Amino acid sequence: IRDDAAEASSYVANYIIDRIKHFNPSPASPFVLGLPTGSSPLGVYRILVEKYKAGVISFENVVTFNMDEYIGLPRDHPESYHSFMWKHFFSHVNIHPNNVHILNGNAANLEAECVEYEAKIKAAGGIDLFLAGIGEDGHIAFNEPGSSLASRTRVKTLAYDTILVNSRFFNNDLEQVPKMALTVGVQTVLEAREVVAIILGARKALALQRCIEQGVNHMWTLSSLQLHPHPMIVCDEDATLEL
Ligand code: GLP
Repeated sequence: IRDDAAEASSYVANYIIDRIKHFNPSPASPFVLGLPTGSSPLGVYRILVEKYKAGVISFENVVTFNMDEYIGLPRDHPESYHSFMWKHFFSHVNIHPNNVHILNGNAANLEAECVEYEAKIKAAGGIDLFLAGIGEDGHIAFNEPGSSLASRTRVKTLAYDTILVNSRFFNNDLEQVPKMALTVGVQTVLEAREVVAIILGARKALALQRCIEQGVNHMWTLSSLQLHPHPMIVCDEDATLEL
């Protein structure tokens, strides 16, 4: 628990930097980083960019896999997760574009896209560290309430609550919010060697409480981290209101 969002973001960014450095990645053995979108990781990305510019960390031998992407939103739409990631992180660091993986929500065959994504993660040697945020309903990636804890990368229909919350990015117009997404599964996340979730603000307080003080429950999919051998939740004071 850190005092505020800035402190929590700084902790997570420095933790990721330490893990990458300790791993000492090379072209033959890159560090594989799983990444989320949303407002929660923005501070982390900002600090990682600053540290890269200060020469503290290199992303030359880092391979990334993003958690999810909307279905049917053009790749260059300002709210696509492709646009988000390039705008806030990838464009500002020395990552090789071939090392960036984001699900293609416009693939002709979405099921095949999901199977291929899992295969690419496997071929990369699995994910070393998966950074995550959560939704107000406790979802991890787009694993909405009710998702199987054994789920893998797949097509998911978004919960009404998620569509409502995300409408702020689409002129508050529910019609414009994509209703479906591609997402890594709960099991995909759990297979990462380490999972770090950043949880900020009072609007996440109920989800945090349900996910760590109650049992593992597919209605609050972040609670699956209780099954993971190396999970870490970094939150600010506001997110602890219900603990
Ligand atoms: C979306 C993403 C999640 C993210 C969540 C929370 O639903 N698919 O991965 O955790 O938004 O976003 P925010 O951090 O803006 O609250």
